[in-house]
Amino acid sequence: MPPDPCKRCFWWGALLWWLCVASSGDAPPTQQPKCTDFQNANLLRGTNLKVQFLLFVPADPSCGQLVEESSDIQNSGFNATLGTKLIIHGFRALGTKPSWIDRFISVLLRAADANVIAVDWVYGSTGVYFSAVENVVRLSLEISRFLSKLLVLGVSESSIHIIGVSLGAHVAGMVGHFYKGQLGRITGLDPAGPEYTRASLEERLDAGDALFVEAIHTDTDNLGIRIPVGHVDYFVNGGQDQPGCPLFIHAGLAEQGGIKIEPLPKEVRVYLLTTSKAPYCVHHSLVEFYLQEPRKKDTSIEVTFLGSNVTSSVKITIPRHQSQGKGIIAYPNPSCQINQVKLKFQASSRMWKKDRTTTIVGSFCTSLLPVHDSKKTVCLPEPVTLQASVAVSHALKIACV
Ligand SMILES: *[C@@H]1O[C@H](CO)[C@@H](O)[C@H](O)[C@H]1NC(C)=O
Ligand SMILES: *[C@@H]1O[C@H](CO)[C@@H](O)[C@H](O)[C@H]1NC(C)=O
Repeated sequence: MPPDPCKRCFWWGALLWWLCVASSGDAPPTQQPKCTDFQNANLLRGTNLKVQFLLFVPADPSCGQLVEESSDIQNSGFNATLGTKLIIHGFRALGTKPSWIDRFISVLLRAADANVIAVDWVYGSTGVYFSAVENVVRLSLEISRFLSKLLVLGVSESSIHIIGVSLGAHVAGMVGHFYKGQLGRITGLDPAGPEYTRASLEERLDAGDALFVEAIHTDTDNLGIRIPVGHVDYFVNGGQDQPGCPLFIHAGLAEQGGIKIEPLPKEVRVYLLTTSKAPYCVHHSLVEFYLQEPRKKDTSIEVTFLGSNVTSSVKITIPRHQSQGKGIIAYPNPSCQINQVKLKFQASSRMWKKDRTTTIVGSFCTSLLPVHDSKKTVCLPEPVTLQASVAVSHALKIACV
């Protein structure tokens, strides 16, 4: 005899008991799923994290379905062909459900046809801030284990987008680190500052944690982190003296403490004038160049997207002995207004004489961010030959999102 699933429900009152009976019988296909809410820790700080994964689907944005095992996920309306957005909240001083989360979930589901999973770690996030910080590694491991179940169901790493709020942003970074930076996207909303400003890249959110990492800072005066942590960092209301939306400042940023991670695009800080509009008045594309023959020195290629009213550039660096370099290009116009890409192999000035006759051969591809599927990747049909300091233009047709 399998254990009676109703035993547990009995204690939860007649209504849940009834739901349970109904769902264990010959339920009609239109059966309402059981909805689960966030927990309430009431200042109790347990050693048990009691993490809950609550799935919300477009068909029923207000009902959180508790999903733990692969079988729960398969029976839940989770659609593996859609993107998946995972929300991780931060420190909860009073051990209560985040007040913003319901609205956030419904806004997300309205904006994107996606699976939204809220991570409830209210129990582990309460007490004092430092005890919540101590739970970050265990929580990150639990989330990673959960994501591995999604991958088994056919979800691609690049279709996963983690949105982490405050301390949750660093949890997102650590999960991304466990996945070697291959998850599609991480958005850090007000990444937490205390304990993290001097943390190592393994511990905090950084640009190596996903294919695309963005952070939105609104709170750097208080508990927010003051340093850029993503490929793109938006400092909302942080640069009133910079007119225009958006304005990019390629900071001559200090090298990442000597730590060499994959070919990283240079961080971009974006200062937004106001919050009256969503901070998404920029589009981003990943640009990649693959050398046919790795070289003995670093290779720099300037990539420029051109259109009737678009000109945006980014420099890709391919480290020596490697064949691939990546960059993130940002532009204010819809991507379909781009009709050309200009590639320029930049000879370093010191090696000018030696490099002048050098040519490189390679392939160029670009994908709209966030990268959801290979359909969004466009490659030049033929490998291109680039001579040092000579710009070469090619037609490029990118669809609009
Ligand atoms: C999953 O989503 C895709 C794309 O929206 C849709 O075509 C498909 O019918 C969905 N599958 C299920 C089982 O709902
Ligand atoms: C770019 O040009 C198109 C028409 O070619 C126009 O509709 C659009 O508003 C322009 N965008 C900007 C940012 O000027």
